[in-house]
Amino acid sequence: MKKTIFSGIQPSGTITIGNYIGALKQFVELQNEYRCYFCIVDQHAITVPQDRLLLRKNIRSLAALYIAVGIDPNKATLFVQSEVPAHAQAAWMLQCVAYIGELERMTQFKDKSAGKDAVTAGLLTYPPLMAGDILLYNTDLVPVGEDQKQHLELTRDLAERFNKKYNDIFTVPEVRIPEVGARIMSLQEPTKKMSKSDPNQKAFISVLDEPKQIEKKIKSAVTDSDGIVKFDKENKPGVSNLLTIYSIFSGIPISEIEQKYEGKGYGDFKGDLANVVIGALKPIQDKYHELLESTELDDILDQGAEKANFVAGKMVKKMENAMGLGRKRK
Ligand code: TYM
Repeated sequence: MKKTIFSGIQPSGTITIGNYIGALKQFVELQNEYRCYFCIVDQHAITVPQDRLLLRKNIRSLAALYIAVGIDPNKATLFVQSEVPAHAQAAWMLQCVAYIGELERMTQFKDKSAGKDAVTAGLLTYPPLMAGDILLYNTDLVPVGEDQKQHLELTRDLAERFNKKYNDIFTVPEVRIPEVGARIMSLQEPTKKMSKSDPNQKAFISVLDEPKQIEKKIKSAVTDSDGIVKFDKENKPGVSNLLTIYSIFSGIPISEIEQKYEGKGYGDFKGDLANVVIGALKPIQDKYHELLESTELDDILDQGAEKANFVAGKMVKKMENAMGLGRKRK
């Protein structure tokens, strides 16, 4: 039997090439081998303030992007989290298994709440919702970027705790992080992760950026004064990040790219990199715009929600039975 994969992306506006490399690109490769569930995690997005109309737009936009990058709805189940109530139900039960201390120790919670007066409870209880997403589908493997590793460890802990305390119903999932591109860095501060919420627009490239914007952002990417195109994460984080992006979008190994630019400055390297990224994103962007105009997208999401509701609904009943909620059911 095929193993199961679950992963999700927040519909919080821009989808960066970090999201593409760390997540979307992997999903496309995995959909042939695994039973896949890919989710637009809108309930996660509301842990921070969102504009209602913009969120609606972003949900549809992310669905179009999933398909534009190559997710085949006949192979993978693509759906919106809030259209499958089991996720919120599972999240509540898992919140009652999670400890406040372990949630407060999550680095993403610490980062997002630092210096803020009004931190929502949802920001703290975000990881049990994510654990619910994963555990509802008997997931074996979760493909994510490196920044989600800690959330995955907590998911495993919660699954094991629940299995021990109540009933052994959950598969304990493994994390799958790509070997290259697990953490694409900011173009402006290459020791920081590339993030869609970065207030500096020049720090990230959106999958939907225009060619001119991409070129400008790459040309102004922070490097160093060596003038040598060489991979050295420690001492040359900016150049190493650009080399990683180049290699992933062109399919050329990093060592060959280094050779190609021996004796040349960063100008040539950056110019070519811009062309590589623009060329790789063009077919995705074309397909995306085509899909947004069509009604096909809504049908795909309806069918995805139906399939997900069927599977997740059964697991929620198992969870409730294990915890003794409701009346006894078969
Ligand atoms: P999100 O929406 O922030 O990011 C989506 C995916 O993109 C990866 N990613 C990156 N990979 C490499 N380099 C980067 N700079 C980079 N930035 C983001 C993330 O690791 C992620 O894989 N909590 C999750 C969403 C989620 C989820 C889930 C994921 C909710 N439920 C269940 C997996 C399974 C998040 O906020 O991802």
